Amino acid sequence: MLVLKKKTAAILASAVSEKFGEGLLTAEEIYTMLEYPPDKSMGDIALPCFRLSRTLRRSPVQIADTLKESVSDAEFCEISSVGGYLNFKIEPTAFAKRVVSDVFSQGEKYGSPLSGVGKTVVLDYSSPNVAKPFHIGHLGTTVIGHSLKLIHEFAGYKCIGINYLGDWGTQFGKLIVAYKKWGNKELVEKGGVDELVKLYVKINNAIKDEEDASGENKHSPLADESRAEFLKLEQGEEENLALWRWFVDVSLEEYQKTYALLGIEFDSYKGESFYTDKMPAQVERLRNMGLLEIDDGASIVNLDKWNMPVCLILKRDGSTLYPTRDIAAAVYRKGEYNFDKAIYVTSAAQSLHFAQWFKVVELMGYDWHNELVHVPYGTVSINGAKLATRTGNVILLKDLFAEAMSRVYDIAKEKNPDEAKCREIAEKVGIGAVIFYYLSNNRMRDINFVMEEALAFEGNTGPYVQYTYARACSVLEKAEGEGKMTNAPLTEPEITLAKTLALFPERVESALADYEPSVITRFILDLAAAFNRFYHECKIANCEDADTRNSRIALTAATKRVLGTALHLICMQSPEKI
Ligand code: ARG
Repeated sequence: MLVLKKKTAAILASAVSEKFGEGLLTAEEIYTMLEYPPDKSMGDIALPCFRLSRTLRRSPVQIADTLKESVSDAEFCEISSVGGYLNFKIEPTAFAKRVVSDVFSQGEKYGSPLSGVGKTVVLDYSSPNVAKPFHIGHLGTTVIGHSLKLIHEFAGYKCIGINYLGDWGTQFGKLIVAYKKWGNKELVEKGGVDELVKLYVKINNAIKDEEDASGENKHSPLADESRAEFLKLEQGEEENLALWRWFVDVSLEEYQKTYALLGIEFDSYKGESFYTDKMPAQVERLRNMGLLEIDDGASIVNLDKWNMPVCLILKRDGSTLYPTRDIAAAVYRKGEYNFDKAIYVTSAAQSLHFAQWFKVVELMGYDWHNELVHVPYGTVSINGAKLATRTGNVILLKDLFAEAMSRVYDIAKEKNPDEAKCREIAEKVGIGAVIFYYLSNNRMRDINFVMEEALAFEGNTGPYVQYTYARACSVLEKAEGEGKMTNAPLTEPEITLAKTLALFPERVESALADYEPSVITRFILDLAAAFNRFYHECKIANCEDADTRNSRIALTAATKRVLGTALHLICMQSPEKI
């Protein structure tokens, strides 16, 4: 519809110049006024003429009547002036023909706003903390982040995906102590990141026990030891450095298995440790600009004026903090990639952190501060259970996907003896189900994950939409070809399908504008519903009338293509057979 809306705006703009004088309203201005009437009997697009009254100095009714005289287009069968509205009714055949021909001629680019051509965006997402579990809390940053990358790529942006690994910090001191005390090489080699997490959980528990036993002052010798080991690491001691590198490698190898399942590849894995030597220059700049204040020994930036708590830059002992590193990383990335936009996808719990350091970057005089975008999301629980990383009571992302795959595998196996095929279906449908379920909601909504719901074949689920895609493929296989729109009259389900296909470009625009992949998910559901209705009510490949058959096959082919593109934008695969 976007295309038609733009076209309508252009036609109206020239009608306005003709009837009321030149230069009064641009097509862009008129475009923003056009509406989709909620009551379709009024028309498919409407211009509420009261919005032009001021500029054109006429009553809405007069404007609607006057404009009606001089607008016409083959895609409209009726243009009427009703109560100050100018209503446009689509001429179905011409409209559907144009939409399907757009889909065919633009191919994989159909729906792309192309607004990102020549621009670069860096996306910081997933970014798990090494040696801590990669759990369902990371589902949001991983899937929303990657989907936003794909949507930006689709819009023509050059995209850099950055996994800002949490690969530095005091947790490594703890891990080194735990490893030296209780771990061994073989166990870690065999158990991978799970073994590291076990060690991490064990030492945290031990520290807590020591603290509890020590009474009032909550003192833990193990915590002291951990701090000492981290200090050695920071000072570059060889043994600790080697352990640290090994821990990072072991963890990364594990994360990459999950990324491979999701089809995610990062362009950079520069984690927090990379910025160690890049922070002093930024701290210096802050100091020279007089932005640093000393507060109880710590160096801070006061953000009272902006109603935010202070931003911590250096601790009392001079060590750096999370915001310090983010500032240094942003400066580095600007230099490295010269981004037009830098997107950070994290849980909403970090919103204040981002608001604070974005403000600090602004105060530091970096003129690109408003190119920084934080994209927050709500919490995830599973069957109502909340998370606790420190005690190890978590559901790992890999287990969530493994379970989804194994359930789909069991179902597939009942019907299909081919082992390899079943595994493939289990992967595409199982992973897809989790993603689709997660991305069905606005990102800020808190989500309770229920596996049975995600995997259901009925209802608004991943399996249902993938099945719809496979259905379109099987129709086309029978039809042998992609068909062509003819002048055969269209029935209601066909018209609705064409209108839904036409909505794709504006849905992509709004997903992009709001950083909201769920807009695409909802579009997929609309398209699947329109296609399934069409499929049930209209004969397609076995339709007797040649022209009608041809049009219906073309509509099916267009659906397949657009559905495939849309699924890709939310990181889902589109299997041709299920
Ligand atoms: N590692 C952090 C965490 O798991 C997320 C990092 C987000 N990115 C950033 N530039 N701060 O909480």
